[in-house]
Amino acid sequence: MGSGKRICITGTGSYLPERIMTNQDLEKLVDTTDEWIETRTGIKERHIAAADEPTSAMAAEAGKRALVDAGVAVEDVDVIICATITPDRILPSTACYTQHRIGAKNAFCFDVAAACSGFLYALKTAEGLLVANGYKTALVIGAEKMSAFIDWEDRGTCVLFGDGAGAVVLTVGDDSDAGSRGLLSSVIKSDGEYTDLLTYPAGGSETPASEETLKDKLHFLKMGGNTVFKHAVRCMGAAAEEAVSKAGLTKDDIDCVIPHQANLRIIQAISDRIDIPLGRFYNNLERVGNTTAASVPLALDEALKNGRVKKGDKVLFVVFGGGFTWGATVVEI
Ligand SMILES: CC(C)(COP(=O)(O)OP(=O)(O)OC[C@H]1O[C@@H](n2cnc3c(N)ncnc32)[C@H](O)[C@@H]1OP(=O)(O)O)[C@@H](O)C(=O)NCCC(=O)NCCS
Repeated sequence: MGSGKRICITGTGSYLPERIMTNQDLEKLVDTTDEWIETRTGIKERHIAAADEPTSAMAAEAGKRALVDAGVAVEDVDVIICATITPDRILPSTACYTQHRIGAKNAFCFDVAAACSGFLYALKTAEGLLVANGYKTALVIGAEKMSAFIDWEDRGTCVLFGDGAGAVVLTVGDDSDAGSRGLLSSVIKSDGEYTDLLTYPAGGSETPASEETLKDKLHFLKMGGNTVFKHAVRCMGAAAEEAVSKAGLTKDDIDCVIPHQANLRIIQAISDRIDIPLGRFYNNLERVGNTTAASVPLALDEALKNGRVKKGDKVLFVVFGGGFTWGATVVEI
């Protein structure tokens, strides 16, 4: 980082809605099978938010839990960044809704839209604010209600996604912190050539909502799954290797890899590519599916709470999503 400041994750929290939808439930909605979904994706079930539970409700719950975990008072939060592609509304930001829900009166708040990579983009943005702009505490949240943006008649997408939220508290490490604890390196990339491969085609300024767009279901997520798959493997593998080397580490120093939880076959391919065994990866997609920007912080919180990740561990996050966007971050917990 070069500033002498260490930016540390001092608390984590997550939230999953109560309702669980299994692959068997999906068999009743579209022409699919539990066997197809599990062998092609690794997913068995996902959580689905209630009708009166927007993204900010989940973000707020995860955020509150992270603040308690960090021992940080809500008034001390300087900034809330919410990574989401399923905002409560296009205007205002989900981060502002979240601020109101948790009572973080002193924070300034904004969203980051980088699809499944959003959490790492938000983390990098927060790091910059803490390192160079004098802020002391950031609440960085990934939260998604994908179920509201999915075409429940499209078997190519509806079997993949789930709802949920994860949050971390970032603070500036004080001098008493031992070792190199904190964010060690990150690599963040985009390629706008592929905007059409993962998109909501309508509802924005290019194609505003109309009777026609509703009829054609253009407000729902459309994805070229196969092409996304190939790019994801290549880009995530390269970003992971670059982030590890940028941190001055080798793959053997990494205690745990937390990848974006999109597809177990993508994760297996990354493991092969970067030569870190699958046993050193933390995966929960079997139970939660692809929760987009919530994926990494949700898995991180789980891994910390169940002891799979411990203080002092070096953890590699690696993500890929619409845009395309992708990246990797190494952090010492
Ligand atoms: C979506 C994904 C699981 C599809 O797996 P795939 O092996 O690429 O499968 P394909 O898209 O080539 O489809 C193979 C066949 O299965 C069918 N199929 C697709 N979804 C199906 C489902 N839910 N149930 C049964 N069959 C299905 C297709 O129609 C196709 O049939 P066809 O051969 O008769 O045309 C996979 O491409 C993927 O995970 N992509 C990454 C998506 C992602 O994670 N995006 C989020 C951002 S990273």
